[in-house]
Amino acid sequence: MSTTSSALDALLQARYGSSTDAAHSVAAHTLNPCLETQLKHRSVRSYQDKALAPDTLELLVAAAQSASTSSNLQSWSVVAVEDPERKNRLARLAGNQDHIRACPLFLVWLVDLARLDALGERRGLARDSLDYLELLMVGIIDATLAAQNAALAAESLGLGIVYIGGMRNQPEAVAAELGLPPRTFAVFGMCVGHPNPERITSVKPRLPQQAVLHREQYQAHQVTTSADNYIAIMSSFYQRHGIKTNGDWDQHSLHRVRGPDAMTGRERLAEALRKLGFAMR
Ligand SMILES: Cc1cc2nc3c(=O)[nH]c(=O)nc-3n(C[C@H](O)[C@H](O)[C@H](O)COP(=O)(O)O)c2cc1C
Repeated sequence: MSTTSSALDALLQARYGSSTDAAHSVAAHTLNPCLETQLKHRSVRSYQDKALAPDTLELLVAAAQSASTSSNLQSWSVVAVEDPERKNRLARLAGNQDHIRACPLFLVWLVDLARLDALGERRGLARDSLDYLELLMVGIIDATLAAQNAALAAESLGLGIVYIGGMRNQPEAVAAELGLPPRTFAVFGMCVGHPNPERITSVKPRLPQQAVLHREQYQAHQVTTSADNYIAIMSSFYQRHGIKTNGDWDQHSLHRVRGPDAMTGRERLAEALRKLGFAMR
């Protein structure tokens, strides 16, 4: 076995939390820097008090803009926040998440249909589709693909990131803080910074591929059985890292989706989106 294929096996084992068939099934491949960055991903929530190298933001945005985009509409934007006071206010709006204060760069990824709206107004052209759920979906997909490209670019530079869904807890207040025009919406934030070497987190195992990979047609019968091994892997992960949970991985996940009281304000997202100019017909 070559050094790179055993390095790939080791990363796959970490990704799945065990020696798995997945490692076996990729034996024909060897590790490369792109795969290494992807497979080593872990969220980083503790940062050094250190500025990013000059032009890092511009490089991350170039990576983001290199992602595929529906019909080349490029229906997203990003707001880069570095001002400590603004980060502090956004941290509060996102459920008081300290890592937003600690990171040197906080990126807020937007659905941006305002640009097309303005261009349509200038040309005097119809743009009725902007009022449909489909276009909001397009913007969310585009923003997400762009953000993930930026995330990988940041990680390839040795930086750490964590996504912040808490931006959706109070969408109107976030929009006011960032001066967003109608038809824009903060889908999520992303902390970017140099990882604190004293708080390096582990790669978090994912479900076995049998749970997520369906060949030809969806295999409903494997839904519960394929989760069982993972539940055991996650229990030992939680124990090893002293992570407090609401029971096993499935119980913990179900606790998160139990109902509106667990949605930290996001249960009123449809109403907030309409106020922000998305009719969602
Ligand atoms: C869209 C999205 C929103 C997230 N929101 C938050 C958040 O508000 N706060 C946080 O600490 N982590 C957040 N996360 C990070 C997830 O908890 C994390 O990705 C997941 O537990 C897997 O861990 P890993 O990224 O270390 O592999 C978010 C992730 C995504 C993709």
